[in-house]
Amino acid sequence: MKKEEKIYLEGFRSWAEININRLKNNIALIHQYTKKDIFAVVKADAYGHGALSISKILQTLKPVKYLCVATAEEGKELREGGVSAGILVLGGILKDEVELFKKYNLVPVVSDFGQLQLVKEACIKKIHIKFDTGMHRLGFYPEETDRIIESVSTLKVEGIMSHFPSADTDRKLTESQINQFRKIVNRFIKKNIKPTYMHIQNSAGLNYRCDFCNAVRVGLSIYGERPSPDFPIPVKTVMSVKAKVITVKGLKKGDRVSYGGTFTADRDMKVAVVSFGYADGLPRDLSNRGYFLIKDRKANILGNVTMDMTVVDVTDIPDVYEGDTVTVIGKDTQREIYFEEVAKMCGTIPYEIMCRISKRVKRVSV
Ligand SMILES: Cc1ncc(COP(=O)(O)O)c(C=O)c1O
Repeated sequence: MKKEEKIYLEGFRSWAEININRLKNNIALIHQYTKKDIFAVVKADAYGHGALSISKILQTLKPVKYLCVATAEEGKELREGGVSAGILVLGGILKDEVELFKKYNLVPVVSDFGQLQLVKEACIKKIHIKFDTGMHRLGFYPEETDRIIESVSTLKVEGIMSHFPSADTDRKLTESQINQFRKIVNRFIKKNIKPTYMHIQNSAGLNYRCDFCNAVRVGLSIYGERPSPDFPIPVKTVMSVKAKVITVKGLKKGDRVSYGGTFTADRDMKVAVVSFGYADGLPRDLSNRGYFLIKDRKANILGNVTMDMTVVDVTDIPDVYEGDTVTVIGKDTQREIYFEEVAKMCGTIPYEIMCRISKRVKRVSV
């Protein structure tokens, strides 16, 4: 952490430490493993890590050829913040966004004939074309390939792409998508359109061979989470969420804790009140279920998580005082709480847990 940030943190109750070395190393590991260019997905504020600072680092890394956002507005924020790398807008282009695309030099993913018409009328030349090989969200159907090839003669098709819905769980579907996409790519090449980039693999897709593609479009794994237990690359978690202890106090046997009194002390206890609640992004589902780390020891959440505070059990953890740092998610000194583990406890996915870490939690590079 930089010296001035440490001073700044003195006024902050909670913060997320973004480990830049881990981010860089994750990119290097993914590149080493895939030998492909990287389209780094930085949408949704870089999955909660802070899109601008993350993008400024990513754009200096050699394997990173594009930054991917969901909307033109997200692209605009990066450009206004000084990002110069190529920006691909995964969510496509709407009529009222044309000027943003032009002004901020954003590249649209085109996924229907209306959008194709729109980019032609707007004289936006560089595009990536998306095919729907099984996600059934955005994209042209493979049967439309020849019609598209005829329609793009005046454009620069820089990329063709598709997307996996279930690379972590459905090998049969994923392999059939790869085969369909290979045929599409071959059709373009046969018709003398050779895009610079062919890309279909997301993080979970890195478990598959896809030799005809030369780029991967990855988010979760660059932030250090494994999309499945058999993920082959030893990436490390980039974000660690921290908060301060507000106060430490005693409970008498029989005392009930927090709104609704859903926890009753079965003995005399010592608890810490931590300055982190659901408004900071802690799922309320962790009430009476989750835990934080204090001095590398587990401190179980007692009672309901509240908007700004959570009560944890520190009966058996000596020397906990007001102002002490607590690890909410991520790395303490030795032990680590993984986003995956928290997500499982809440019946969701690590993406959602990352994205919901709120604005109140200051992001700091370490
Ligand atoms: C179109 C598209 N490509 C790539 C990704 C990156 O996926 P992951 O974060 O699983 O690597 C996403 C993420 O939602 C996406 O929507």
